[in-house]
Amino acid sequence: MSTAAVSTTAPGSVTVRVPAKVNVQLAVGAARADGFHDLANVFLAVSLHDEVTATPAAELRVTCEGPDADQVPLDRTNLAARAAELLAARHGLEPAVHLHIAKRIPVAGGMAGGSADGAGALLACDTLWGLDSSREELLDICAELGSDVPFSLVGEAALGTGRGEHLTPVGAGTFHWVFAVAEGGLSTPAVFREFDRLTAGTDVPVPQADPALLAALRSGDADALAAALSNDLQAAALSLRPELAATLDAGLGAGALAALVSGSGPTTAFLVHDPEAALKVAAALEASGTCRTTRTASSPSPGATVLPR
Ligand code: C5P
Repeated sequence: MSTAAVSTTAPGSVTVRVPAKVNVQLAVGAARADGFHDLANVFLAVSLHDEVTATPAAELRVTCEGPDADQVPLDRTNLAARAAELLAARHGLEPAVHLHIAKRIPVAGGMAGGSADGAGALLACDTLWGLDSSREELLDICAELGSDVPFSLVGEAALGTGRGEHLTPVGAGTFHWVFAVAEGGLSTPAVFREFDRLTAGTDVPVPQADPALLAALRSGDADALAAALSNDLQAAALSLRPELAATLDAGLGAGALAALVSGSGPTTAFLVHDPEAALKVAAALEASGTCRTTRTASSPSPGATVLPR
C-alpha cells in the first residue's frame, strides 16, 4: 500500500466531491434466497465528504491521502477502481486512469465511505472520458458496484428499497450531527450474518418505511426525528462490538437528542439541535475515551458533484 498527496488538481483531471451517509431508519427483512436482505432504508447524506480525482494515466492506479489512508485498499477491490473498470468495459475503453482519493469519511465505518468513492470515481471517469452517460446508466453501474452506491451518487435524502438500490427521494429539513469514529472497522456482511443469527427462529417483519420518521425528516424538527430514529442492525453491531454501548451512553449523557449506530457500524451517530451543541457533544465524546475521534456535520448534502476546475 502507498499513499500520495495531490495538493492541486492537475490540468486535464476531474475532481468529484461525494458525501457520507447516515441511515435514519434501517428496517431489515429476513435473508433472501440470494443472501441479501430486503430493506426499508432511509438514507440521509451528511456534510462529510471524500474527493475523488481522475487523471489520465498509463494504467489504472489508486492512491489515497487522509488520516486513515493506510486502511484503504489500493487494489482492484477498491470500489473506485471497480467503477472505472465497469464504466470502461461498457464503452470498450481501457481504464487508463489514476484515481486519487482524499479521504475524510471513516473507513469501514457504516457511513458508505467505500460506496462514496465508487460513485465519485464513476462520475469523475465519465466526465474525464467525455461519455456523458445518462443518470440511469450511471445508477445502473452504481447498483452493480454495491447496495449503497446509488445513494452516494444522488445524495440528499432518499428511501432505498430492495437491497437499498431502488431509490425514491424524500424531503428533509436541516439537521445537525456528531459522529463518533470507533477504533477499527466492522464488516457489513458480518453484521448482516449476526442479524440473521439474532433473529433466527423469529418472524422477521417485512421492512417498511415509518411514516412518522418521514414526516419528522421533512419537518426539520430534530426532537421529532430523535424520537423516530431506528436501526435494525444496531443490536447486531452491539453484539459484535459491545463497547459501542458506552459510546452511545457518553453522547446521550453529553446532551445528544438521540444516539444510534450508523448503518452496520461501528461509527455511532448523535443528533443535536445546532452546531454549538454538536461541538459540545463532540468534545464530551472525545474526553470520554469511548471513541477514536469525532466529526461534526449537517444534513442533507448533495450527491456526487463535479468540482469546478
Ligand atoms: O451490496 P454490498 O456489496 O455493499 O453488500 C455487502 C454485503 O452486505 C453483502 O454481501 C451482504 O452480505 C450484505 N447485505 C445484505 N443485504 C443488503 C445489503 C447488503 O445482506 N440489503
